[in-house]
Amino acid sequence: MANTKPDRREMLEMCISRGLLVGGAAMTQTQLLAFWQKTEAGMHQPTKAEVLGPFFRKGAPDNKVLRAPGDAGFPLKVTGRVIDTRGRILEDAKVDLWHADHEGLYDTRGYRYRTKLSPDAKGLYGVETVMPGHYADRPAQHIHYLISAPGHKTLITQVYFATDPFFEGDPVKNWNKRGIASNKELILPVKLFEGPGAPRAEVNFDIVLEKA
Ligand SMILES: [Fe+2]
Repeated sequence: MANTKPDRREMLEMCISRGLLVGGAAMTQTQLLAFWQKTEAGMHQPTKAEVLGPFFRKGAPDNKVLRAPGDAGFPLKVTGRVIDTRGRILEDAKVDLWHADHEGLYDTRGYRYRTKLSPDAKGLYGVETVMPGHYADRPAQHIHYLISAPGHKTLITQVYFATDPFFEGDPVKNWNKRGIASNKELILPVKLFEGPGAPRAEVNFDIVLEKA
């Protein structure tokens, strides 16, 4: 919201446009402002979009483990949930996710490092994979997403990794380096774990869809 206080009509229009009121309930401006502020505080901003890119393939199987035994590449677990702008779980969502292998190569004939996930009853999705590699056209490690849910706008986006050498150790300063990432919110913090066992990384990416 802007710094200036919206007038009653503007608040009503904003509330109605978001499906927060049915018709024009009889409320004073003070009540309406309090209602709006309370509602606004609980709202989630829709996840930012990115371009699809040339390597999407329809028909990926629902596979929660993309990393095969012996695969090269740094083990990576990706988790998150799919919700709407009011924080409600979208358990009927579908999460297409695809990325390059550790050398920056996409499987353009099969479904290596590709999946189409169905979140569980808590709206959670998760996949075991490897950290994507770099490739010349897009030299920042990234994962592509296409997320859909009934009654909501389909979202195409990508996520990046704060640990990527591309960001030179300072993703806050360098998030827009060479214009690769379109939004700093899409650069994810990375949790790194050491033994027992092999080191691994984990990222969390919550997805917020807006109504169609
Ligand atoms: Fe890509």
